[in-house]
Amino acid sequence: MPATVVVGTQWGDEGKGKLTDLLAGEMDMVVRYQGGHNAGHRIVVGGEAFALQLVPSGVLYSHITPVIGNGVVVDPGVLVAELDALGAKGVDVSRLLVSGNAHLIMPYHQELDRLTERFLGKNALGTTKRGIGPAYADKAARVGLRVQDLLDPKIFRQKLDVVLHEKNLVLTKVYNRLAMSAAEISARYLDEYAPRLAPMIVDAVGVVHDALARGERILLEGAQATFLDLDHGTYPFVTSSNPVAGGAATGSGLGPRDLTRIVGIAKAYVTRVGAGPFPTELDGELGDLLVTRGAEFGTNTGRRRRVGWFDAVMARQAVRLNSLTEIALTKLDVLDTLEEVKVCVGYEMDGERYDYPPYHQSVLHDVTPIYETLPGWGEDLSTRTSFEDLPRAARDYVAFLADVIGVRIATVGVGPQRDQFVRPS
Ligand code: GDP
Ligand code: IMO
Ligand code: MG
Repeated sequence: MPATVVVGTQWGDEGKGKLTDLLAGEMDMVVRYQGGHNAGHRIVVGGEAFALQLVPSGVLYSHITPVIGNGVVVDPGVLVAELDALGAKGVDVSRLLVSGNAHLIMPYHQELDRLTERFLGKNALGTTKRGIGPAYADKAARVGLRVQDLLDPKIFRQKLDVVLHEKNLVLTKVYNRLAMSAAEISARYLDEYAPRLAPMIVDAVGVVHDALARGERILLEGAQATFLDLDHGTYPFVTSSNPVAGGAATGSGLGPRDLTRIVGIAKAYVTRVGAGPFPTELDGELGDLLVTRGAEFGTNTGRRRRVGWFDAVMARQAVRLNSLTEIALTKLDVLDTLEEVKVCVGYEMDGERYDYPPYHQSVLHDVTPIYETLPGWGEDLSTRTSFEDLPRAARDYVAFLADVIGVRIATVGVGPQRDQFVRPS
């Protein structure tokens, strides 16, 4: 069976966790393909909420094999804590598999993430300070430690000694901090985390290909989103991995032809956490209303999210970058009380119209959105169970979005619960 990808089409927090969980009902395996615990994927089932960071969102089903792919950066302490927290809630986490090729987030990564952000001052990116950027940087610089190194203490210590020598010079001489101790780090990683994680460490490439060969259905769960992509996002206000659907291949070991269904997740409006351009951003009362109604605070960091109108220019670009075959629109219910709803259908700058984002970011910073205004519906959508049941204006809004984006909207979210969605026919 070919594989399905769930990818964020905006700046994150579109509801990838909820959609992954929903689709996982029809899957056999869910693979996280990039990012780390900068992600926060919230799932609500039967009134109970789960905020997942590293563990794939299919974990709540007993028939799913959750896999952390090679493209993920793993903080083993966070993973162990997440497994314990899920276990305490009665979730069986014993099926989790972790790629031996995934890279480890080390204590100096987190420290350097914090220090770099502080030194950037007003130019800070607003990272999650989880060590994500420094860990991917070390991966690219070929001085990273991998999950499989936990299984070989000698190699682990050797690699750590080499890299920590340089990190400590930076920590002490550049940032005037205390040096970190290789012995302490080794004790924690090798004596505490390694025994816990060892049974889960596998050749994940073999695992996913064997599953495909058995005819199993695989779902690839993205973290972050298209416009946080290191190559295609609003650089430098991006994360350090490739959330776009292509990253699902490199981050899992599946080939591009194995990925045939690509589900783009889009909020019915747009949010962003941290710094960076945001053409349709809303301030004032309307912004506050969306933040409140949408509970727009980081799932794990608690940070207030910036909010704005739906941006079809970005959505069209997301269609191209990800080969989207369908869109799942989430949080339509958040717009319930608005008298009118706006959609950005293009940008304008110096008399020029843009249907796709201008490649030059100086232009993107200054574009004026071109809006179409649609009537609101003024009714509670959260209890609706079929698309036909939605008020006319809500259906028209969904149809309008599908039309300006050019891709079918297959699912519409009307609340955070697993069963709060409808499907346009
Ligand atoms: P992710 O990072 O893409 O998985 O998204 P998050 O979990 O960080 O943020 C999405 C938030 O919206 C979560 O709190 C979800 O419970 C919630 N959510 C998802 N879909 C819907 C929906 O259709 N309606 C409402 N009201 N909330 C939703
Ligand atoms: P999910 O998977 C929203 C943002 C940070 C910051 C930038 C870089 O829940 O959608 P990083 O710590 O990755 O170096 O931060 O990326 N960011 C997210 N924003 N949702 C996320 O994940 C994010 N992960 C990172 O706020 O602007
Ligand atoms: Mg999130």
